Amino acid sequence: MTLIKWSLVGGLTLLSFKTFAQRTVSAYKELFRPQLHFSPREKWTNDPNGLVYYQGTYHLFFQYYPGDIIWGPMHWGHATSRDLIHWKQQPIALYPDSLGYIFSGSAVVDSGNTSGLGRNGKPFLVAIFTHHDPVGEKKGSADYQNQSLAYSLDNGNTWTKYKNNPVLKNPGITDFRDPNVMWYRPGRKWVMSLATKDKISFYSSPDLKSWTKESDFGQDLGAHGGVWECPNLFPMQLNGVTWWVLLVSTNPGGPNGGSGTQYFIGQFDGRKFYPNGSTTKWVDYGPDDYAGITWNNTGQRKIFLGWMSNWIYANQVPTAVWRNAMTLPRELKLVHAKDEIYLSSIPIRELDRLALEKPRVIRDIAVDTMTEIFGGLSGAQYKLELHADTLQDFFITFSNSMGQQMVLGYDKASNEWYTDRALSGRTDFNKEFSKRSFSPRIATGKEMDLTVVMDASSLEMFADKGLTVMTSAFFPDSPLIRLHVGSREPWKIQRLSYTPLRSIW
Ligand code: FRU
Repeated sequence: MTLIKWSLVGGLTLLSFKTFAQRTVSAYKELFRPQLHFSPREKWTNDPNGLVYYQGTYHLFFQYYPGDIIWGPMHWGHATSRDLIHWKQQPIALYPDSLGYIFSGSAVVDSGNTSGLGRNGKPFLVAIFTHHDPVGEKKGSADYQNQSLAYSLDNGNTWTKYKNNPVLKNPGITDFRDPNVMWYRPGRKWVMSLATKDKISFYSSPDLKSWTKESDFGQDLGAHGGVWECPNLFPMQLNGVTWWVLLVSTNPGGPNGGSGTQYFIGQFDGRKFYPNGSTTKWVDYGPDDYAGITWNNTGQRKIFLGWMSNWIYANQVPTAVWRNAMTLPRELKLVHAKDEIYLSSIPIRELDRLALEKPRVIRDIAVDTMTEIFGGLSGAQYKLELHADTLQDFFITFSNSMGQQMVLGYDKASNEWYTDRALSGRTDFNKEFSKRSFSPRIATGKEMDLTVVMDASSLEMFADKGLTVMTSAFFPDSPLIRLHVGSREPWKIQRLSYTPLRSIW
């Protein structure tokens, strides 16, 4: 009798376990899980690190805490892709050690074995990162952040830390981190941009191991609402002329509060950066694009990737298995606007490979106060492109059947673009989250060009061919597949195209 009882109970347990297992959501299919963007399979991520292209593979390392979905002892997570779209998460590349946590940094291809760490004359990868010593920090010493090396002789699969780390010691500056290294061809030397509290310091080296200070930049320029972090210096061409672009992240003090990434354009002579003008310019005016850098070793093409979050609420967003994701990779270009040079960014063309079907094009849409364009889109992730011959006050509402919505629009009186996520779903985890975000319109033309990429929990807006970009994360309970456009005065959209995109996973 007892035996039967037990087996019955056992059977029941097994049965209920099965039902539970069946109900468990499979990886990358959870509510809010980005389907077009990289996010770690589980646990916490912040900054992208060590972006480098090598032998047909794009490497993405990232600030990673494998122990929880909040920030913790930092590792370098690792993912690889052949097309910048489909990512395969790899084993952790760098673990904390006796010198500390592994903070942000970069990776280069040491083709000439300048460091002497290579073997058999083969090019190999070197990572340059910050060792952050939490013990020193706790003790209140100033020199707890130092720069170190690791190298990989097997295409980034496994990494060895350099035995004489750190290679660049802290001179007594509390924020001394995020080394970004490039090969400066005219001077045949490595140049490191380093965030040193409220400025960027440039160092140079013949071998990645011994570094000489060259100059400081930016103490009296740009946005200084918070500490400077994650610099990235690189050359770009505009009409045959070489300009140098310097990305600098700032937290807080971003254009809509919290984290943001500004950039400077100028000249660089191997020692010093000479900025052109003094307008503060942001890579992305939305609330969720931080610590972005570009891939090394991609030739003339410059591809940018940011962290799609904001330190105001990054530790609180309502995901359960993982927390935070990267932006879409974006192609950068220099453009003339308002007698100055600006950076534009648009989604990389490889995104179109995800098209589920041919773009659906609608022409000459007459818009009034509230015009329904789509009552229900076929895909939960999609790209939308709009062109109108004139630009006037208008908004686009992306909503679901529960009335949750993301709004973006243009305000003619203030000449600003905006995004609004106040009613976008879960917002109560942080009171700052529902705030509307604004961005100046930089373009001056009378036409309107807009590209929007919608994913499960993000909207990226590229206005005026990428001159004004705004990225917002949001957390709706179901996909936003209804589309309305409204305008104060009757208006016409000459062309709207909708492309549903398949999941990258
Ligand atoms: C930027 C940042 C970096 C630092 C890393 C730590 O988001 O604060 O300056 O290296 O995150 O995770």
